Amino acid sequence: MTLRRKAVVARSRGVLRYYREVKSAMATQSLRKTEETSRNLAAIYAPIAAELTESERIFAAELGSRFPFVQYLVDHCADLRGKRLRPALVLLTGQACGGLSPSHPVLAAVVEMIHTATLVHDDVLDEAMVRRHATTVNAEWGNEPAVLLGDYLFTHAFHLAASLESTLACRWIGRATNMVCEGEMQQVHHRGNLELDEDAYFEIIRCKTAELTAVCCRLGAHYAGVPESTVEAMENYGRDLGIAFQIADDVLDIWGEERTTGKSLGTDLEKQKLTLPLIRLFTTAPDSIATPVRRLLTEANPDNRRELRSYLDTSDALEYSWDRAEQHASMALASLDCLEESSAKAVLRALGHYVVRRSA
Ligand code: IPE
Ligand code: IPE
Ligand code: MG
Ligand code: MG
Repeated sequence: MTLRRKAVVARSRGVLRYYREVKSAMATQSLRKTEETSRNLAAIYAPIAAELTESERIFAAELGSRFPFVQYLVDHCADLRGKRLRPALVLLTGQACGGLSPSHPVLAAVVEMIHTATLVHDDVLDEAMVRRHATTVNAEWGNEPAVLLGDYLFTHAFHLAASLESTLACRWIGRATNMVCEGEMQQVHHRGNLELDEDAYFEIIRCKTAELTAVCCRLGAHYAGVPESTVEAMENYGRDLGIAFQIADDVLDIWGEERTTGKSLGTDLEKQKLTLPLIRLFTTAPDSIATPVRRLLTEANPDNRRELRSYLDTSDALEYSWDRAEQHASMALASLDCLEESSAKAVLRALGHYVVRRSA
């Protein structure tokens, strides 16, 4: 029996002491997994290691609460680190554009707060059970604390951004966050729409994911004091990287392993959110394939993931999706041409390759 299953059984039987023991074993296990991911990325993030640590300190300090329950929820988010891609982008673009200022770690903490807020809310929408190798806030404490914790993260992000001398970052981050929310709303609106086309899909992922990575790079560059043309090039890098990242994420939702990603998978299928592989299948497959796939999607049964995958594997959906992701990753790399060579630029380049073929 997995630890997660043991915890559910212990809780349902009211064996609290045992439940606490199992939970503690789970926490150790999930920390090991997050440490594993962090270790792998730590090498890649070496040029900005000190500033990344500083941004984590700022993150935790900003979110501190005198109320133990609020602090407990905040600790849950702060302890379970993800890939830290967005703060890393702020710092790496800043470094690659000439150097970091004291504003950079603050901005890095702000964008990670926004990202964490969107994840906490997204897990409510997707009814996801696992995030960052641990139980989601909604699964552990219910939807109400999860919605409120997401709000708390959003408000603190802007409270922290407002501590900077100029309101520019607040405006830019505000605009990007507005678009993230629009993207998520559009996705909810299109749930169950099996006619969703590629243009609408790309519009959704540009908003919900790529605008945030774009603004991270815009901020990193602007606060390093480079000319506007370089700021725009970095913004384009971040946008294309974000599009490639989300396509890869959508591939993982279908073909990935929960053990490796550390989050609930198959939720796009269960919630009938059409992503690129299925859009490709519907535009290319004969009726003999498309009809049973439509039926499986409408049933929205979690066990249908494997069967859907076997239909998808009869088409070029996976290769096509990777190709599209790679196209955007190449466009992202081309935007780096205006920068002089540096170790930070090399990492930005490496990230372009990493985002497409990642397994977590
Ligand atoms: C997950 O983002 C949400 C998407 C935009 C796909 P990440 O995969 O960067 O999540 P963490 O921060 O590493 O957990
Ligand atoms: C959500 O996309 C992206 C956000 C803006 C939060 P997903 O629903 O695919 O993200 P995961 O797979 O749950 O991390
Ligand atoms: Mg989700
Ligand atoms: Mg996903």
